[in-house]
Amino acid sequence: MSETEPVKPLLEALGGNIRPVPPVWLMRQAGRYLPEYRALRERAGGFLDLCFRPELAAEATLQPVHRFGFDAAILFSDILVIPHALGQRVEFESGEGPRLDPLADAAAVERLRAEIDHSVLAPVYETVRLVKRALPPAVALIGFCGAPWTVATYMVAGRAAEGQVPARRLALREPATYGKLVDRLTAGSVEYLVGQIRAGVDAVQIFDTWAGVLRPREFDEWCIAPVRRICQEVRAQCPEARIIGFPRGAGTALSRYVDHVPVDAVSLDWTIDRAFARGQVPDSVALQGNLDPVALLAGGPALDREIDYILHAFGGLPFIFYLAHGILPETPIGHVERMLRQIRQAVQT
Ligand code: CP3
Repeated sequence: MSETEPVKPLLEALGGNIRPVPPVWLMRQAGRYLPEYRALRERAGGFLDLCFRPELAAEATLQPVHRFGFDAAILFSDILVIPHALGQRVEFESGEGPRLDPLADAAAVERLRAEIDHSVLAPVYETVRLVKRALPPAVALIGFCGAPWTVATYMVAGRAAEGQVPARRLALREPATYGKLVDRLTAGSVEYLVGQIRAGVDAVQIFDTWAGVLRPREFDEWCIAPVRRICQEVRAQCPEARIIGFPRGAGTALSRYVDHVPVDAVSLDWTIDRAFARGQVPDSVALQGNLDPVALLAGGPALDREIDYILHAFGGLPFIFYLAHGILPETPIGHVERMLRQIRQAVQT
């Protein structure tokens, strides 16, 4: 690496190098726990307006990096921009989460666009370019998409549904219809990730938030198979792509995931036993995780202890310190500062 290209600790870890101090970022690090985000959100109007206005989305992306000095920025967007680009109506109601027109049957799936509308996603790529220009050189920019299964759960039910019953029922009753939906999501996600990578993101993460509700066979077919295809097709177009997988709730299926999905790192949720996870994942795959968002919310000695456990459990490995699920909006900013101090001091002394 030349002198003009400073080391990005996050990319070092993704490349298999062990950092004395692990790189740190948080899931949903841009969000409602930050007063500057709430002010920006008010200026933007709707949540999707914020996602699709590059100057504002770039500002949201940069806010947590400027405030805390994280080692990575995550592109400000949402996994549900893909259904939107496939022609499904997507809205975010304040405090209620996403609302989509549910895909009730095969005809509704047929009515979706066959391919994503690139003009819808063009502003996201512009956000990437703006962020890249403003980001400190050692800070990596992470792009992302939702995994087809997780995105399908919102598309079929129209919202977050308990146990993801509507999507599972559709997949079991009408496998051909479900297959068609997943094929469109897979192809759209590949194009979307390639677009982000070409615009300048350093790595991408594939969020499979609802992988944990699946039976083993479903996990293989609905989580592993399409995410594997996404990774392979992205790598065919961008051989240097760095990809992080997040099969939330994979549990004992973690080893099948890392054996079959060609990721550079796997993100762990907070329910997994850390020694077990270490044993399942080959040395060639970095680990990312796995602070419990409630520990970060609680703060105090409970938070300090968790941080110590994590640093101890994943010491000596290529590792990225990460919040295992989204930061809770009521999390005090002081807890995030305390966490960073502890991670960065503990290892240096
Ligand atoms: O810092 C970041 O991580 C910002 C980028 C980002 C957002 N959503 C912004 C967002 C990312 C990476 C996501 C991913 C995402 N979106 C996932 C996968 C990760 C996960 O949470 O499991 C999912 C399932 C979604 C879909 C989604 N978007 C839901 C269910 C909700 C409502 C829940 C909530 O927290 O309000 C959103 C809205 C959303 N996406 C917000 C943000 C900052 C809050 C919207 C607001 O400002 O009111």
